[in-house]
Amino acid sequence: MSFNTKYPSIEDLRTRAKQRIPKFAFEYLDGGCNEDINLYKNTAEIREVELLPEYLSKHTASSMKTTLFGHEYDAPFGIAPVGLQGLMWPNAPEILAKAAFKHNIPFILSTVTTSSIERISELTEGKAWFQLYHPAKTEIRNDILKRCENSGYKTLVILCDVPTFGFRPRDIRNGLAMPPNMSVSNIFQILGKPNWAFQTLKHGQPNFETLKPYMPKNLDLKQLGKFMDDTFSGRLNEERIKPIRDLWKGKIVLKGVANQLDAEKAIALGLDGIIVSNHGGRQLDAGESTIKPLTRIAEKYGNQIEVMMDSGIRSGPDVARSLASGAKFTFMGRSFMYGVAALGNKGGNHTISLLKTQLQQVMEQICCEKVEDFRNHLIK
Ligand SMILES: Cc1cc2nc3c(=O)[nH]c(=O)nc-3n(C[C@H](O)[C@H](O)[C@H](O)COP(=O)(O)O)c2cc1C
Repeated sequence: MSFNTKYPSIEDLRTRAKQRIPKFAFEYLDGGCNEDINLYKNTAEIREVELLPEYLSKHTASSMKTTLFGHEYDAPFGIAPVGLQGLMWPNAPEILAKAAFKHNIPFILSTVTTSSIERISELTEGKAWFQLYHPAKTEIRNDILKRCENSGYKTLVILCDVPTFGFRPRDIRNGLAMPPNMSVSNIFQILGKPNWAFQTLKHGQPNFETLKPYMPKNLDLKQLGKFMDDTFSGRLNEERIKPIRDLWKGKIVLKGVANQLDAEKAIALGLDGIIVSNHGGRQLDAGESTIKPLTRIAEKYGNQIEVMMDSGIRSGPDVARSLASGAKFTFMGRSFMYGVAALGNKGGNHTISLLKTQLQQVMEQICCEKVEDFRNHLIK
């Protein structure tokens, strides 16, 4: 097996991650919003999708390779953008970017994570994608886009589903902040996880590396909060997307699409792809799970724009379910971060290998030779 056989499922990695990192960091990663209804629906409803096996069909070989935006990837899944990754495990974005590059799958760098545009480009030879939180100031937006272009990024992901911060009771209770808030309770949580504490000390305090050039030095916690609020109060709309379309020569993907109206707008604006997503159930607890709008949107617009999906995927069979429901490509956020929090440097490779092995098994089991053929195996 090309993965550590002690952890043959994402749930195994999640359990290990919980033991290994402080409670405030685990809860930030694991939680949804409000009462976690949307988080629960994402994982529950995708599992209702059923696939049809065709045992007596002719079968030569199954291949997970798939072409997206002119590049042939080795598997139809990638690593979704996640903020504050270094808080959960030091160097997490670097670990995942390197693993994604090695396995030839996309890694999406978040604006608010703990590695920079330039560093991730170096590690991936320009193959990573960049996710933009829309800055309120045009100069900052333009500078970030220029840095991405200079570093060789070809795909820009613009996020539309965070017009306001999600209401997340655990983070509120934990006083979560960057750098970690040293309340007595948080200090006890850190003391209980010596490996995490040692690695964090060794690598130094995590910082918003991409945003460093725009941040005044030595901000205290309150000032940092104000800086983030002022910098990202830019709710996304069509007027804000148009100039980005004009400026950015590469592909543009709109992430966070949850309804047909926004999909139509993305097409009208000349964007190249959409990720049907509800941010892993972290923003609108009263919203639908992603598998439902995915099915509707892919059927209606799948031939006009690349329709991808994330939220709720935790296994190879889940990737297969999304592809069968119409997604061209899929992404996962938590699954990969559980892997790194559980296994450190080895977590990226482990998780990708595990998911590849599971997906290959499904393809061979149902007699599906190509990724595009999953749709023929959907039980409607
Ligand atoms: C801890 C955490 C932080 C996230 N931060 C970002 C972010 O900075 N930018 C972004 O576009 N999405 C962010 N997301 C959403 C993910 O990109 C993705 O949509 C989500 O994790 C998919 O759901 P899954 O975790 O069930 O796979 C975050 C998700 C998590 C769990």
